[in-house]
Amino acid sequence: MSNPERLLPDSTALLAAAPEGVGEGAWIDVIQKMDEVYSDLLQYEVALEEKNARLEESQGFILSVLTSISDILVVCDRGGRIEDVNRSLEVFTGRSLDELRGSLFFDLLADPAAVGVAKGLFALRSDAPVHDCELALRAADGSAVPVSLNCTPRYSSVGKSLGVVVTGRPVGELRKAYSALRQAHDDLKRTQQQLLHSEKMASLGRLVAGVAHELNNPISFILGNTHALKRYAARLGEYLAAVHSGEPPEALLALRERLRIDRILGDLDPLIEGTIEGAERTRDIVDGLKRFSALDREESVRFDLVTVVERSVSWVCKAAPERFTVTVTLPDSLPVIGSSGQIQQVVMNLVQNACDATAEQGAARLEIAGVVEGADVVLRFHDNGPGIEARHLAHIFDPFFTTKPVGSGTGLGLSISYGIVERHGGKLLAANHADGGAEFVLRLPLAG
Ligand SMILES: Nc1ncnc2c1ncn2[C@@H]1O[C@H](COP(=O)(O)OP(=O)(O)OP(=O)(O)O)[C@@H](O)[C@H]1O
Ligand SMILES: [Mg+2]
Repeated sequence: MSNPERLLPDSTALLAAAPEGVGEGAWIDVIQKMDEVYSDLLQYEVALEEKNARLEESQGFILSVLTSISDILVVCDRGGRIEDVNRSLEVFTGRSLDELRGSLFFDLLADPAAVGVAKGLFALRSDAPVHDCELALRAADGSAVPVSLNCTPRYSSVGKSLGVVVTGRPVGELRKAYSALRQAHDDLKRTQQQLLHSEKMASLGRLVAGVAHELNNPISFILGNTHALKRYAARLGEYLAAVHSGEPPEALLALRERLRIDRILGDLDPLIEGTIEGAERTRDIVDGLKRFSALDREESVRFDLVTVVERSVSWVCKAAPERFTVTVTLPDSLPVIGSSGQIQQVVMNLVQNACDATAEQGAARLEIAGVVEGADVVLRFHDNGPGIEARHLAHIFDPFFTTKPVGSGTGLGLSISYGIVERHGGKLLAANHADGGAEFVLRLPLAG
C-alpha cells in the first residue's frame, strides 16, 4: 500500500498559491473540498486493496482445490469448446491447458461412437444432469481408457446457459482392482474347499483306523464259520451218499457217529446265525462309512444326534489307547436337521481332541452329556485334561492353530467344525470347566 502521508498535498503551500482574483475564503473552501475528496480516495484505495487480497486468496483456494481433485474436470461452452480444465485432465491427456483451451471436448474422445454419445449429452444440457455415462477417452499414451463421466449444465448469474461442466473418473483401475478382488475371492473359496476336503480326509483316516479294527472281527468270524460250514458240507455229503447207496442200518449208524453228523446238525444253526450277524455288522459299518464319505451329499435330513455321537465315540475309541474312557449320557433321541456326516466330523474331532488332550492323564476321561434346552439340543464335552491355556482360548477356532507337534494335527479340526455348526444354525463354544479340564459346548436347533 502507498504512503498517504507523503502524498497529502501541503495546505499551507496551496493557500499561498491562491490564484489572483479568488477571495481567500473561497480558496479555503476549495482546498477543504480537495482534502475531503483526497481522503475519500485514500479510503477507497485501502478497501480496494483488501478486496483484492481476499479475491486472490479465494482464487488461490479454488485453484488448489481444482488441482488436487483426482477426477478430471473440463469446462466447455455451449458448442463443446473447452474453456478450462484441471490438472488431472492435463496429466490424463498429456496436453497442457494452453493446448487444450479452445479445442473441442469431442476431440478428447477415443472413437466416433463415443463422440456421437457425447454430442447427445451436450444437446441435453438444459435438462437434468447426466451421471455415470461411460465413454472412452484418449489417454496420454494413446490408449482408449473408459471414463465414467458426469455432465452438468452451467448457467450465468442471470440464468443464461453458458455450457457444460464435465467431470469423470477412469474406471479401468477400478475394474482392475475389482477383478483382482474377485480373483482373490475365488482363490480363497477354492482353498477353503480344499481345506474342508483335507480335513475330511484326515477325519476319514482316523475313522478308517477305527473301522479297520471294527471290520476285522466280524470278517474273521464269518471266514471261520464258512470254513467250518465247508467241512460240514463234505461230511453231510458223504453221509447222504451212504444213505442213498442202501448201506445196512448198523453201518449207517457207525458212519453217522464217525462223521459226528448229530454235532454238525446242532452246530449248523449257530454257525449260520453267526455268519448272518457278522455280515450285518459289516453292512452297518459300510453304511456308516458311506454316510460319512462323499456319498453323503451334504443333504439336509432329519437324523438322530444320539446315533451320531455313539458312532463317533465308538470309532474314535477303537483307535484310542485303553486308558481313555468316554461316558455318554444322552436321552433316547435328539432329533436335529442337517448333514449327519458333517456333524459326525464335528463330534469325532471333539472326541479326538479330548483323547489327545488327556494323553498325559493316567485315567483319561471324557464325559459327554446331551440335553434339550428350549429349542436347542445341547451337547457338553468335558474332559479331565489340562484345559486350554488362557492365551490360546481366543485362537483355538482359528484355521491352522494347533499346539500339537508337527505332523500330529493340522489345526483345522475346530475351525472347520465351527463353520459346519454355524451352517447348521448352531453354536460351538469352548471354555475351561470350573472342575478342571476343557469343556466344549455344541448347540444345534432341535428338529421340530
Ligand atoms: N479338549 C481340549 N483340551 C485342551 N486343548 C484343546 C482341546 N481341544 C482342542 N484344544 C486346542 O485347540 C487346538 C486346535 O484344535 P483343532 O481340533 O482345531 O486342531 P488340532 O486338533 O490341533 O489338529 P487336527 O484337528 O487337524 O488334528 C489344539 O491343538 C489344542 O491346542
Ligand atoms: Mg482336532
